[in-house]
Amino acid sequence: METIKLNNGNEMPILGLGTFRAQGEQSYEAVKHALGIGYRHIDTAVIYANEEEVGRAIADSGVPRDEIFLTTKTWNTAHTKEAASQMLKESLSRLGTDYVDLLLVHWPGSYERNAAVWTALEEAADAGTAKSIGISNFSIHYVDALLASARIKPVINQVECHVELQNTRLHEHLSGLGIALEAYAPFMSQHISDLLANETLKEIASAHGKAVPQIVVRWMIQRGIVVIPKSVKPERIEENFAVFDFELSDEQMLSIRKLNRARRIFPEPDNVDFGFVQF
Ligand SMILES: NC(=O)c1ccc[n+]([C@@H]2O[C@H](COP(=O)([O-])OP(=O)(O)OC[C@H]3O[C@@H](n4cnc5c(N)ncnc54)[C@H](OP(=O)(O)O)[C@@H]3O)[C@@H](O)[C@H]2O)c1
Repeated sequence: METIKLNNGNEMPILGLGTFRAQGEQSYEAVKHALGIGYRHIDTAVIYANEEEVGRAIADSGVPRDEIFLTTKTWNTAHTKEAASQMLKESLSRLGTDYVDLLLVHWPGSYERNAAVWTALEEAADAGTAKSIGISNFSIHYVDALLASARIKPVINQVECHVELQNTRLHEHLSGLGIALEAYAPFMSQHISDLLANETLKEIASAHGKAVPQIVVRWMIQRGIVVIPKSVKPERIEENFAVFDFELSDEQMLSIRKLNRARRIFPEPDNVDFGFVQF
C-alpha cells in the first residue's frame, strides 16, 4: 500500500475507507471486507456512532492491529482539554484499542476553544494514545491561529475536497507548512450522481477502462492527497481500491483541474453551529 510520510515521521496509507453514514452491522461488514481485500486505513469519528462496530471488525479481521491505520475525531461538543481527553478515552474503549493512529479535531470553533482542545491532543500524542494528531475542516486562518500556540504541529488537515471543490490554495498553504491534506467526500458524498455523469471524467475513465470513481481516487493519489472514499457495498469497496495499476497523464490531470466549481456540499467551516450552539 502506498503511504505518505507525515511531518512526525509516521507513515499513513494514502487510501482508506470512510465510514460516515455506515451504521450498525453495515459498518462492521464494510470494514471487515475492506481489511480482507487489502485496505489498511479506516476513518471513523465519535459522531458517526460506529466506533464499536469498527473496532469489532478490526478485531475480527485477522489483520494485526499494528498493520492498520485507524483515525477517529473528537466531536464538537468537547470545548475544553478535559472534555476532549475524556472523549478520546471513551473512543478508545468503544474501538477496543489502546491507541488510534490519528486523532483529529473534527470542526474548528473559536481560536481559544481550538487551542484548548489541541492541548488534549498534544497530551494524547505524548502519551501514545494518539500516534499522530491533526485537524479537520480548518480553513487557512484557523490553521495559522492554531500554529501560533501549538506545541506539536498537526500532521494533516482533513477537508472536503473533490473535483468541484479542489482546495488548491489550502493545499499549497498546508504543503508550505509541512501539513498533509486529506480529502473527505471525494465522490461529492450524496451528490455522487453528478460526478458519475461528468463527461470529462467519463471520457478519461473509458480511456483507461476504469470507472469514474477510480479516476477521482487516482487523481487525488497523484496529487499526494490522502483520500477516504466511503462505501458499504463490497463490489464498490473493491472498485475504489483498484487504482494502483494505471496512471493519469499530465493532460488528464489538467482537464480534471479545470472542473473546479467552488461547490461546497458540507457546511462552510466559518458557519458551523452544530455542537457549538444549543437550538
Ligand atoms: N471530517 C469531516 O467533517 C468529514 C465529513 C464528511 C466525510 N468525512 C469522511 O470522509 C468519508 C468520505 O466522505 P462521504 O462518505 O461523505 O462521501 P464519498 O466517499 O464522497 O461518497 C460516498 C457515496 O458514494 C457511494 N459510492 C462509493 N463508492 C462508489 C462507487 N465505486 N460507485 C458508485 N457509488 C459509490 C456511496 O454509496 P454506498 O455506500 O452505498 O456504496 C455513498 O453514497 C466519510 O465516510 C468520512 O469517513 C469526514
